[in-house]
Amino acid sequence: MAGITLDNVVKRYGRLEVVHGIDLEIAHNEFVVLVGPSGCGKSTTLRMIAGLEDISDGEVRIGDRVVNDLPPRKRNISMVFQNYALYPHMNVRDNLGFGLKIAGQSPAVIEERVNEAAEILGLSELLERIPAELSGGQRQRVAMGRAIVRHPDAFLFDEPLSNLDAKLRVQMRTEIKKLHAKVRTTVVYVTHDQVEAMTLADRIVVMKDGHIEQVGRPMEVFNHPVNTFVASFIGSPPMNLIPATVAAGQVRFSDGTTVPVPTRLADLVAEGQDVVFGIRPDDLTPVGHGIHEARETADIELTVELAELLGTETLIYTRFAGQEVQGKMFDPRDVVPGERLTFRLSLDKAHVFDATTQKSVRAL
Ligand SMILES: Nc1ncnc2c1ncn2[C@@H]1O[C@H](COP(=O)(O)OP(=O)(O)O)[C@@H](O)[C@H]1O
Ligand SMILES: [Mg+2]
Repeated sequence: MAGITLDNVVKRYGRLEVVHGIDLEIAHNEFVVLVGPSGCGKSTTLRMIAGLEDISDGEVRIGDRVVNDLPPRKRNISMVFQNYALYPHMNVRDNLGFGLKIAGQSPAVIEERVNEAAEILGLSELLERIPAELSGGQRQRVAMGRAIVRHPDAFLFDEPLSNLDAKLRVQMRTEIKKLHAKVRTTVVYVTHDQVEAMTLADRIVVMKDGHIEQVGRPMEVFNHPVNTFVASFIGSPPMNLIPATVAAGQVRFSDGTTVPVPTRLADLVAEGQDVVFGIRPDDLTPVGHGIHEARETADIELTVELAELLGTETLIYTRFAGQEVQGKMFDPRDVVPGERLTFRLSLDKAHVFDATTQKSVRAL
């Protein structure tokens, strides 16, 4: 049993603090994804768990062991990097077994573990090949296999898919998910890609500027972002965020347009409060072309500036209260720039953030 606990973990490089006291509890066998923009401290946090960076302050525990002062090899965790390096002259079998051999494992144990990992990863037929004879995806699987054979308490992944082309990335994402289902173990996975985070994670940890902004199950974070940063970071295309003021039970935009304050949020806003109104493109759809039946709606007429046909849906760029916003049309017909369309806002799905704190009024 080994979960991972971060207790007020700080990282400083000289006088520059880049991770500002992170608290996080990762359960045994949980798949946790650290996601956030480049430079927010994901890799640094992961590397402190791995033992590749000193911990400036706070405590990291794996299971019930404090590991702050343990070297990486004594932490019983495996790390898979973006730039996986296989030994080019060794075949797959030897690449898989090399770490165990160095660690002094017996040939019988090595063979058993290598065969087991090859079986799990579908590499059994490829054991005699050298890396040059493998596809990118197969090489990536060998890299993961090298981690698996060690039977670690946890796997740490740092952007393992970012060097792969789009198609392979999606394929490997599925493989990692399947792999976790087979080899139930604790995983900490770092990515800047919110789609990867949404699809892989049991729980997502959204980071920004060395802080955790929100921790939650993917749909929780998607449906209930605690602030405008999370709202715009998770979900693609991003949520529309439009400044407004609360006046007489209405959300009033800069051009004088109003929509009712969603009933479920009515008690959470104050008259005169400056807010940011949030609505995802999926919830701003021409009348008759939405995907869900909303109980509360508001209709506004907008002019199409650009339409992108994506197949089953069309992304519509328009302008609302002086700001570019995006809506979606499901079951599309042709839409042309300049066309006036009545859009229906699903107020059930709308978000209201305080303009000063940028926090969701649900979270204040
Ligand atoms: N060795 C270092 N010395 C100084 N600053 C560093 C060092 N490594 C990383 N940083 C800084 O720490 C911050 C977090 O970096 P990192 O954890 O790599 O971000 P991420 O993985 O989220 O892109 C960045 O601002 C980066 O410039
Ligand atoms: Mg990084």
